[in-house]
Order: sequence, then C-alpha cells, then structure tokens
Amino acid sequence: MTNEAQSRLPRHVAIIMDGNGRWAKKRLMPRAAGHVAGVSTVRMIVRAANDIGLKNLTLYAFSSENWKRPVTEVSHLMTLFRAYVRDDVTELVRNNARLRFIGNRSRASADILALMEESERRTEANTGLNLTLAFDYGSQEEIVAAARELALAAARGELNPDDITKELFAARLSTAGTPDPDLVIRTSGEYRLSNFLLWQSAYAEFLFVDKLWPDFTREDFLNAVNSYARRERRFGAVVEETVA
Ligand code: IPE
Ligand code: IPE
Ligand code: MG
Repeated sequence: MTNEAQSRLPRHVAIIMDGNGRWAKKRLMPRAAGHVAGVSTVRMIVRAANDIGLKNLTLYAFSSENWKRPVTEVSHLMTLFRAYVRDDVTELVRNNARLRFIGNRSRASADILALMEESERRTEANTGLNLTLAFDYGSQEEIVAAARELALAAARGELNPDDITKELFAARLSTAGTPDPDLVIRTSGEYRLSNFLLWQSAYAEFLFVDKLWPDFTREDFLNAVNSYARRERRFGAVVEETVA
C-alpha cells in the first residue's frame, strides 16, 4: 500500500460481495460451490483489513431479499454463515477484532441467533478492526423501523417531532455509533446498491469492480484503498486550490 493510502485510510469500507453464482456457473459447478469460494475471500479480506489497520469493515452477507432464492440455496447460505461465525470468531478474538451484526434478527434460526449473540459478546471489548456482517439486512426496512420508533416516541409524548434531526434519526439505525462508510465496493460488475446502507452511503465514494467476488484478491482490496486515497471529496462544498 502507498504511504498516501496509509495516511488517508478510509475510516469505514463496506463491501457488496457479489458474483458467487456466476463464478460457479463459469466453472460448470453448482452455485453452492461459488458461495464456498466466496467465504475464502471473506476470510482473506478480513485479514487484509486487519493488517492495514482499518477501523471499520462492513460486509453484505445476506440481504432481506435473498430469502426469495430457492430454499436449498438459502439453507446452504445459512450453513456457511453459521460455520463462518462459529469457526472464525477465535481468529477475530486473537486479532483484537470486534464482530457485530446488522439486519433483522427475527427470521434467523435459534442456533444462528445464539451464535451471533455469543460472538458479539465475546468480542465486544476488542478495540481493533470493527467487523460488521449485514445479515438479513435491508436498508429500507432499517429506515422504516427507525421512523416507526420515532413516531411511537412522539405518540407517547416523549419526543417533539420538531426535534427530529438527522443525527437523532441516524442514532436509531442499526449502524449507530459506526462512522458512515467512506468507500463502498461492489464486485461482479453490477452497478446498484441492492438495498445496502442507503442512508449511510449519502457521501460515500463508490468503486465498482468487474471481478466476481471469489476472484477478488488482497491486492484488489489494497488497490481499492489506494484509489480512495487519491479521490477528492467535496461534500457539496468548493475545495480551495492550494497555492504553491
Ligand atoms: C453473492 O453472490 C452472494 C449472496 C448474495 C449471498 P450471488 O449469489 O448473488 O452471485 P451471482 O450474483 O448470482 O453471480
Ligand atoms: C446483494 O447481492 C446482496 C448481497 C451481496 C448479500 P444480490 O445478488 O442479492 O443483488 P441483486 O439481486 O443482484 O440486486
Ligand atoms: Mg448477485
């Protein structure tokens, strides 16, 4: 990684890991094999993030719309998710990483829910990489839930609607406490967000990569961080030219 990139490290990188199915299809393999290969990429990218000292990494593991997939695929994804959380938490603990989950918890099976809660508890005091897995996550659902909570508080007379600010709203989202993503990466050559961190990505930089997720390498990840360091962010303002 370049020195410039090290000094301008994004505070938060979020990744839409896409293309497992196409990766498998190209090899005449079942989609399930693509998901297995995708988990290896997850492991490698988490290590890379830890190595460069990244503070926050969010990975889109399963969307609230992914339930629409065939039952066999959903159940295979659940099996892989369960195995990842169970097997990798030890390495996360060793690396002082914190694991958290965002998304709807009401549809997960009891054993997955227990694993999620246990791994969050085991890593909650860790101060290194903050790894968030978006599981059964949908940004629109998340925003509606926040709006509902605020409406209920107002209906109970605990909140004046005039006092609702974007900070108050953001505090009701599942990402409260984590800085907004500076860089959102999507693999597989698709140019869409698929209901991922809509509110939080208001001023994110986007990087769309043609490679399928199982082909995404540590080097690709470092290149993404390097390219972020070279971008100029304006946040709606005018950036002054530096006079030599
Ligand atoms: C991403 O790969 C993994 C999940 C959505 C869980 P896909 O399964 O979407 O792969 P493609 O897009 O069909 O190639
Ligand atoms: C987005 O990928 C969800 C995850 C990466 C978990 P999808 O493959 O589900 O998105 P669409 O269907 O192409 O929009
Ligand atoms: Mg896909």
